[in-house]
Amino acid sequence: MPAGSPSALAVPSPALVSSGALSQSLLAWYDRHARKLPWRAPPGRVADPYQVWLSEVMLQQTTVAAVGPYFRAFLDRWPTVASLAAAPLDAVLVAWAGLGYYARARNLHRCAGAVAGLPGGRFPEDEDALRALPGIGDYTAAAIAAIAFGRPAVVMDGNIERVIARLFAVAEPLPGVKPKLKALAATLTPSHRPGDYAQAAMDLGATICTPKKPACAICPWTGSCAARRLGIADSLPAKATKPPRPTRHGVAFWTLRKDGAVLVRRRPEEGLLGGMMEIPSTVWRGQPWEIGEALSAAPAATEWRPLPGLVTHGFTHFHLELTVVAGRAGRPELAKGLWCPLDGLGDQALPTVMRKVVRHALAKAY
Ligand code: ADE
Repeated sequence: MPAGSPSALAVPSPALVSSGALSQSLLAWYDRHARKLPWRAPPGRVADPYQVWLSEVMLQQTTVAAVGPYFRAFLDRWPTVASLAAAPLDAVLVAWAGLGYYARARNLHRCAGAVAGLPGGRFPEDEDALRALPGIGDYTAAAIAAIAFGRPAVVMDGNIERVIARLFAVAEPLPGVKPKLKALAATLTPSHRPGDYAQAAMDLGATICTPKKPACAICPWTGSCAARRLGIADSLPAKATKPPRPTRHGVAFWTLRKDGAVLVRRRPEEGLLGGMMEIPSTVWRGQPWEIGEALSAAPAATEWRPLPGLVTHGFTHFHLELTVVAGRAGRPELAKGLWCPLDGLGDQALPTVMRKVVRHALAKAY
């Protein structure tokens, strides 16, 4: 065994069995218990790279349950990577609205364009070439290489990290321990059915080796799991404590025209929710706003009425609290933004936080 190879790491051995036996027992479990998910190929069929890519991008930071309807809607509308590449970006952003992390939708569209422009208009099979495409990082490149092309790539997501941390009883905290977990996972990744193996490990983490109360009694790896042997499965993986998310505050302006149209505007292309539509608001800052002070950012001259309650939304790096004020624009032609009929708001690329503002205003302003 060469010094520095993963098996030379100073961690408890997971098993009295070989890595080949471990991957085989997981695959046998998967053949009986695989979750039926809309992007998975039926047994014996090879998955379509476009569908694998689309699902994996959607699944970055979004749950399997939330992704299902979006995945089906995208495939109905854009059945091939070429059709998605040819779609207007705004149509993709509108279809994506609700999935969050909108930079992903913009990268999805850019990536479709890049793939459509490759010889044959097909996804590359190689992990490095995949990683060079917009919006495809280490995880997604490995997942596509393994699932769509049968490459023995080491696929690491949160579920698999937990499974590996427990199997090898790795006690150091995330995120620093990630490279070590990947090196350990690499010792198990088979060259036979690597895509099924990766998805089996995801399913094991999602359904049995769960964050709380893992169902060790029915786990195919229970006899080999070092954390189970030590009685510490529940407490792994350890996580470095994160500082609490700060709160930011803003005031949103629900502005109506006489005919009931609502004022919206497009956010700058760069930055958070780039290029999405919004109900105009002040900047979002650490200090709460006095309403009088916020009015200098109002998109129209009128009397503003604060609506009771707050709209709250969790972003990755901060928590947002928005006060909504309502007003009727006296001179709509001077307002800063675009007028959208109330029943047309659903067709706008409004991110979730702005859909919450609309719901709040509709509930409180009339
Ligand atoms: N999460 C991300 N990708 C997945 C997949 N292919 N199967 C199940 N869960 C997933």
